[in-house]
Amino acid sequence: MFVFKKNSFKQFNLTNSFNIKQFSLLGKAEIPGDKSISQRALIIGLASIGQTVINGILDSEDVFYTLKAIEALGAKVDINKNYKTITVNGVGLGNLKSPKKPIYMGNSGTGTRLLIGLVAGSNATATFYGDESLSNRPMDRIINPLKKMGANFIFSEEKKLPITVIGARKKGITMPIKYKSPVASAQIKSAIIFAGLTARGTTKIEEPYKSRNYTEVMLKKCGVEINSKINKRNFNTVTVNGTDHLKNCNFSIPSDPSSALFIVVACLIAKGSKVKVENILYDSMRLKVFKILTKMGGVIKINKTSVDTCEIIARYSSLKNINLNKNDTTSLIDEFPALSIAAACGKGKMIMKGLGELRYKESDRFKSISEGLRNAGVQVNTFKDDMEIIGTRKVFGGNTINAQNDHRIAMSFNLLSLFSEKPVKVIGNESIMTSFPSFFSTLKSLKKWIE
Ligand code: S3P
Repeated sequence: MFVFKKNSFKQFNLTNSFNIKQFSLLGKAEIPGDKSISQRALIIGLASIGQTVINGILDSEDVFYTLKAIEALGAKVDINKNYKTITVNGVGLGNLKSPKKPIYMGNSGTGTRLLIGLVAGSNATATFYGDESLSNRPMDRIINPLKKMGANFIFSEEKKLPITVIGARKKGITMPIKYKSPVASAQIKSAIIFAGLTARGTTKIEEPYKSRNYTEVMLKKCGVEINSKINKRNFNTVTVNGTDHLKNCNFSIPSDPSSALFIVVACLIAKGSKVKVENILYDSMRLKVFKILTKMGGVIKINKTSVDTCEIIARYSSLKNINLNKNDTTSLIDEFPALSIAAACGKGKMIMKGLGELRYKESDRFKSISEGLRNAGVQVNTFKDDMEIIGTRKVFGGNTINAQNDHRIAMSFNLLSLFSEKPVKVIGNESIMTSFPSFFSTLKSLKKWIE
């Protein structure tokens, strides 16, 4: 029923038609809705009773599987003809359906971890499984706290998908917990928050620094008593009180800054380019990468256009590499693949510290980036969780990279191919469907030949 626009994913041979020595990127680019907020809007819609109207949802594979999952758990979803508005008729916190069949989540780590959290606090039982990449991602990081809250799990020895969750309220109650998360992760924090919605009392989660907070902001809008506080050491503590229902709210979803980044980086490295992206989510954490690119000499202007949106205008720039310490890189995990391509095309040495979490994303991004760049002729030095990229205005390319089902690795190396002397062949461009199905058509629409 829900049809993400498969047709918009027209893969074309970037390397023949798309060499930046011959063209610039000029004009306005349309960026699809934010992936994190789109998935949360659907899950909150399921957990509310009655209608949740969502505008501007991301039309992509990850969102598609999350939508199918909320249907399997009892929600009724209506999609209007031109796909602009989605209405979710939810079942509420206490009435999740136990699906007869296992729920396939594709590549979506966010959808899976957040829904496991919601089911953990319910009286339902559900089994989740995913594609090869998702099946390799660690789930113990959510299983451990959710077990303490009373949920039960059936899983393999490695604590990876497929996983069956038996909700805490099947035979008992959801227990509020105090949990110190070893990593700052919005997915871990959100899984515990969703389970905590049905707990009798206050659930408290501490993370070593603040991860993205859309779950908190969106649930607060729905009347949940949820608060957060950052201490002097930068630790973030979230408290959430259990409730029996969510107030119905509607959501309007701004465009995804992490997708916009790929277009901005393409513009920064393609001579003569000038690109504008509009309606981008205004969130200092997600915009940090644009500040870093500005520090590198990128000509980037961010104009706030409403409380939570902005427009970004970028021009071709001569980039100079800089040093980033752990504090800078921790919130850049999704942005690092595209940033590393900018660094490869910049001048001098880029030093990036504290990239350990990169290994647990859709692929081992630490490995994919360092090996992919090295094979393209870029000098990369790695030391434990730190990486140095020595920029060059002449990337040789000519290599093949397997994106390992990781959309951000696929998009990044397609960008490198724009810049390199010889094409970089990317295996696995289909993964781009998970977050930015119009990536190629957007680049193509901006392409202007230099006569
Ligand atoms: C996301 C959280 C991030 C991010 C992911 C989306 C979310 O992961 O990498 O792409 O929507 O909650 P963490 O769990 O590491 O914060």
